[in-house]
Amino acid sequence: MTGPRAGDGAVPLIDRVARARDCLARAGVAADEAQIDAEVLARHALRWDRAAWLARRRDPAPPSFEARYAPLVARRQKREPVSCITRRREFWGRAFAVGPAVLTPRPETELIVEAAVELLGERRGAPLGIADVGTGSGCLAVTLAREFPRASVTAIDISPAALAVARRNAAEHGVGERIAWVEGTLADWLAGSSAEDGGGLDLLVANLPYVPTGELGSLPPEVRLHEPRIALDGGTDGLDPLRDLLHAAPVRLNPDARIIVEMGTGQANALRDLVAAAAGVELLDIRADLQGIPRTAVIAADRPLETAFA
Ligand SMILES: C[S@@+](CC[C@H](N)C(=O)[O-])C[C@H]1O[C@@H](n2cnc3c(N)ncnc32)[C@H](O)[C@@H]1O
Repeated sequence: MTGPRAGDGAVPLIDRVARARDCLARAGVAADEAQIDAEVLARHALRWDRAAWLARRRDPAPPSFEARYAPLVARRQKREPVSCITRRREFWGRAFAVGPAVLTPRPETELIVEAAVELLGERRGAPLGIADVGTGSGCLAVTLAREFPRASVTAIDISPAALAVARRNAAEHGVGERIAWVEGTLADWLAGSSAEDGGGLDLLVANLPYVPTGELGSLPPEVRLHEPRIALDGGTDGLDPLRDLLHAAPVRLNPDARIIVEMGTGQANALRDLVAAAAGVELLDIRADLQGIPRTAVIAADRPLETAFA
C-alpha cells in the first residue's frame, strides 16, 4: 500500500516520501535508487525544482498532493523507470524529453561528451564536422551542437520514432537548425551523400546497441520492459552495430578525426580485437566509467585511405 494511513492528516512531505521509498525498496528497487526516485516523483507531482524541495520538504503535504503522488509511486513499484513516468531526463546539465521510442540517456554516456570536449576543445570555435550515430533522444548530437557552436552536426538513427524525439529536443535546446537528420545507418548516410555535401568528419560519436541478443531476457525489468529493443540488441556478441560502424567510417574521416564510442560491460577486449581487425583505424584509449568499468573507446584514423576525404 502506498497511500497515507487513516488518521494521518497532512503528513510532512518528507515522511510521505520516506514511506514511498520503503514501498519502492520492497518492490525490488535498489535502496539508493528508491530514495532518489521517491523524491524525484514527489518533485514531479509538486512541480518543484530541487531547491524548492530542499527548502520546503518539511511542510505538510498540500491537499492535492496525495492524489497526484500515489499513482506515480504505484507505477514505479511496477518497475517502470522514473524517466518514463516523468518523461524527462537530465544529460550534461540539460533536460531531455524521453519516452517509449528512445533509450533514456545514461550518466556514463556523458563520458563521450567529456572525451570530445577534452580532445577537440581547442577547436571549439572551428567549423568541425560531427556525426552522432544512433542518436536516440539526441542527447549527444544536441549536447555536441551546443558545445561546438560552429560545427555541422549530423544525427543518424534507424528509428524514425527516435528521430522525432531527437528533433524535438534539438528544437527545445535551440540547435534544431544546425543538425541534419538522417534515417538509416552510417553506411546508408555515406552511400547517399558525398564528402563535398557535408565535408569530412572530425568527430564521430556513437552509443549504439551493445547487449548480446541472448542476454536481453536477463536485463532488469526497467530496461527489458520499457526501453526499445532496437536500442538494446547488438546481435550475437553485442558488437554487430559497432563492427559495421568501424567498417564504414574511415572513408569519411578527416586527418586527426576521432571516433568515440560506448561499449558494454566486459566488451573491452572484443572491442580491441574489432578495432585491430578494421582497416584504417587504431585504438587510442579506453576510459572507465565511475564504477571502474571500461566504457568509452577513443579511436583514430591510422592512415589516410585511398578513398579518404582530405
Ligand atoms: C543505445 S541507444 C542510444 C541513444 C543515445 N545516443 C544515447 O546515448 O542515449 C541506440 C540507438 O541506436 C539506434 N540504432 C540501432 N541500430 C542502429 C544502426 N545500425 N545505425 C543507426 N542507429 C541505430 C537505435 O534506434 C537507438 O535509438
